[in-house]
Amino acid sequence: MGAGGVCSGVALALTPLFARRALTLETLELEPAALQPSEVRVEVLTCGIGFAQTLMVEGSYQIKMPVPFSPGGEAVAVVAEVGTAVASGRGLKPGDVVIVNGVPFQEEAVVDAGRVFGPLPPETDPLNAPPLSSYNTALLALRDRAELQPGESVLVLGAAGAVGITAVELSKRVLGASRVVAACSSEEKIALCKAMGADDAINYSDMSPTEFREALRTAFPNGVDVVYDPVGGELAEPCVRALANYGRYVVIGFASGGADAAGAIPQLPANLFLLKNAKLVGSGLTEWVNTRGKGQPLTDMINEVIQLSAEGRIRSRATPFAFDDLPEAFRALRERRVVGMAVLTTQHYANSAWGGEASKL
Ligand SMILES: NC(=O)c1ccc[n+]([C@@H]2O[C@H](COP(=O)([O-])OP(=O)(O)OC[C@H]3O[C@@H](n4cnc5c(N)ncnc54)[C@H](OP(=O)(O)O)[C@@H]3O)[C@@H](O)[C@H]2O)c1
Repeated sequence: MGAGGVCSGVALALTPLFARRALTLETLELEPAALQPSEVRVEVLTCGIGFAQTLMVEGSYQIKMPVPFSPGGEAVAVVAEVGTAVASGRGLKPGDVVIVNGVPFQEEAVVDAGRVFGPLPPETDPLNAPPLSSYNTALLALRDRAELQPGESVLVLGAAGAVGITAVELSKRVLGASRVVAACSSEEKIALCKAMGADDAINYSDMSPTEFREALRTAFPNGVDVVYDPVGGELAEPCVRALANYGRYVVIGFASGGADAAGAIPQLPANLFLLKNAKLVGSGLTEWVNTRGKGQPLTDMINEVIQLSAEGRIRSRATPFAFDDLPEAFRALRERRVVGMAVLTTQHYANSAWGGEASKL
């Protein structure tokens, strides 16, 4: 169990096949674990899957996991049992729906209470629960790193992906951007971005960098204040050329490289920044969580996201996959077929009050 947590029920683990990049998925039956005073036993309803996990299971992530390991991330779960210290300290109780950070893809888990956030309002469908790491990524990038001001304009690339769609939503609905343009690769993705607040959209699927530059000129005749870019590659330079004076180009990731992220790192002409008094800004959630965000700032950010969700100001959108379809979820992410956040649903979800809803999405 490389990704932390102990569980009962079923987990998915990766075992090596022949080489580092050829891994096989295996389903494991695990024994129930004893509960320590500071721990919580949860029944997992849904698990979010991000781009980083696709890299991890291909062995191409920056951090190499020793195999076998259980991939995982963030889950929405029902509290089944709380340790004695948790019952008196946190006020969590069985039946609460919570978000759990750093849990392997498994149907049940025992986790330290420090990794449990919430509870969420009882009516929250787990498929609409806020993926904290995606919202935190966008909040950190837009508010702290780019210092987006109300009334400014924003361009989001990969706008229907996990960290893209949260940026669209937060820019428009929370941070007061005047105009948000979503750039992505299909009409279905554009429809989601518009439903989440985008004023306009560009389908860049068949565009050359020059054509994209033209589309940006039309979308932002006076230039764009903030570009949020989780995609990288050849579309980055046209974005920098589209910046307004004092604009900020925020580096989030390099999804266009697929397994070869390094191949998608743009080499940008520095003069473009000089000419416009513009800024090239890096924004990495992991570094922030381990340094300036450690402790209270991160807790405050998480509570803010949960509050925004409870108030209905943000509403996550998921593409659900059954728990056993994890390989298909990875394929869909890799092939850019996922709209919104890819989410695994467990048997506990299927048996819950929300269970029938997944098929309607
Ligand atoms: N800086 C941070 O703090 C931070 C935090 C989390 C994630 N990230 C990074 O941000 C990037 C996106 O992560 P995510 O979880 O949002 O991923 P995601 O849900 O898979 O979305 C990525 C988007 O990138 C676009 N894309 C373009 N070329 C692609 C390709 N060859 N393969 C896959 N997608 C491609 C796709 O949109 P279109 O089809 O519309 O182009 C897709 O929707 C990754 O590089 C990830 O490592 C950074």
